[in-house]
Amino acid sequence: MITLRFVHADQSVQLVQAEAGQSLLKAAIDADIRAIEGDCGGTLTCATCHVMIGPPWAALLPPPVPDETDMLDYAASPVTPESRLCCQVRLTPELDGMEVRLPVAQH
Ligand code: FES
Repeated sequence: MITLRFVHADQSVQLVQAEAGQSLLKAAIDADIRAIEGDCGGTLTCATCHVMIGPPWAALLPPPVPDETDMLDYAASPVTPESRLCCQVRLTPELDGMEVRLPVAQH
């Protein structure tokens, strides 16, 4: 198990236990992180799973594929260089302690 640190838009923090190997979207949904909706179920067609992942964690992730970058254009909240779609982030043991910032809105 790894621990993820979700930081809500109001700066409140929610710690979540997750399994390495699962997607960040599944970990968030299982933990009832309401700021992540994931309407398309992870098929990269909705952009309602927008999160921000900054240093040092971002460097441990594979870069986004072009389809992820394209879909971020449809995110409801401002996109930053740290923006990712969490359905595309696969959890690994190295991500233990990762901070995941949540946007104000997904719609
Ligand atoms: S859940 Fe729809 S793009 Fe990630």
